[in-house]
Amino acid sequence: MNDVLPGEVETWQFLENQARSIFGNYGFAEIRVPVVEKTELFCRSIGETTDIVEKEMYTFEDKSGNSLTLRPEGTAPVMRSYIQNKLYAQDPVAKLYYMGPMFRYERPQKGRYRQFHQIGVEAIGIEDPKIDAQVLAMLSHFFAAVGIEDVSLQINSLGCPECRPGYRSALITYLQERLGKLCADCQRRYQSNPMRVLDCKVPDCKQATADAPSVLDNLCGNCEAHFGQVQQSLRDLEIPFAVNPRMVRGLDYYTKTAFEMVTGSLGAQNAVAAGGRYDGLIKDLGGPALPGIGFAMGVERLVLMLGDNKLAPSRPDLFLAALGAEAARETFRIMSGLQRRGLHAEMDYEGRSLKAQLRRADKLRSRYVLILGEDELARKQATLRDMEAGTQEEVPLSALEQILLSKLQRA
Ligand code: HAM
Repeated sequence: MNDVLPGEVETWQFLENQARSIFGNYGFAEIRVPVVEKTELFCRSIGETTDIVEKEMYTFEDKSGNSLTLRPEGTAPVMRSYIQNKLYAQDPVAKLYYMGPMFRYERPQKGRYRQFHQIGVEAIGIEDPKIDAQVLAMLSHFFAAVGIEDVSLQINSLGCPECRPGYRSALITYLQERLGKLCADCQRRYQSNPMRVLDCKVPDCKQATADAPSVLDNLCGNCEAHFGQVQQSLRDLEIPFAVNPRMVRGLDYYTKTAFEMVTGSLGAQNAVAAGGRYDGLIKDLGGPALPGIGFAMGVERLVLMLGDNKLAPSRPDLFLAALGAEAARETFRIMSGLQRRGLHAEMDYEGRSLKAQLRRADKLRSRYVLILGEDELARKQATLRDMEAGTQEEVPLSALEQILLSKLQRA
């Protein structure tokens, strides 16, 4: 679990602001849900036999004996809220986004943390494959807007309750014949979660299952048509993608379209964003039978990818240096006035020498410095130094605000 310090937080704010502005343009509104939910919510949605539910949840009992869990993801809480607040009563279609911390007790490594942050979206109530393409277009737009280029979109279809059971049993039969060649994890989970074996990173498992039956050859007519239309719409929108029939997701609620935005630059943690359709989830959680699709991006991974393109902290427009107590009182008053006008102004509070104050102005990279001594104060004048040009001039205190505003607009 990490602190996000000044110097790094600017990149976070940049990503959050871009998400708000882009998602807003696509008609998504923000929703804020608690970080703690009843444990049962995650067991029922993510799935009892997934890694997340089996071993990664921060679960505890509260003082009334209720089992609560720190949210490991955002989709289930958002669906819980959608149902509980009956958002469907006004309009079954809801386009929502959220951002905030998630918690998974995983083995920490680069790009994988126990408290991490997601920016996610959910589009509820639309069956049409065009919404799948729209959500993916928005995801691509976001990456382009924040300047992350080294990513590619992989998509797959995971079928539905009609076609998946048949595929699942065919896959279990196939895996049974090769059981001795699979890793211990896959030997344990091949019955409960056979599709996960296809996604195993262990080279022996990859080799042993190279010719496994493909989910895409086993889709029902409806899923096949849906997947075809998603691809057609992506081509219409000129969004590049690759079909990866071995991609499965670590959460059980997915149906039909599933996707990942992957990168080669983060080692083993190659998914910067991931998501898919979850057409049965809202009904399973006690709501109306409405479809949904969404994704979540890992903010820490986005920040890692932005790397050295970090944004600098805001630099002061003006540093006010004072000589003597009277001048300090006056600079404090002037500084507060400028701050109210929306300027970034700073001063020294410790009555240090002019030299020390100027060193501090330099350290903060202030654009201008105002020097006010007792003599100047008596004349209601001050010295304004332009730190970039290295020039300085006397300015009347009464006109300082105007002069600064016009200079900064020019700068
Ligand atoms: P997920 O694939 O579990 O999906 O997580 C989405 C993204 O969160 C990952 O691609 C990754 O970037 C980031 N992430 C996950 N775990 C960690 C971790 N331990 N440390 C750092 N980053 C991590 C979901 O959570 C779904 N709720 C996404 C979704 C929304 N599907 C439909 N709607």
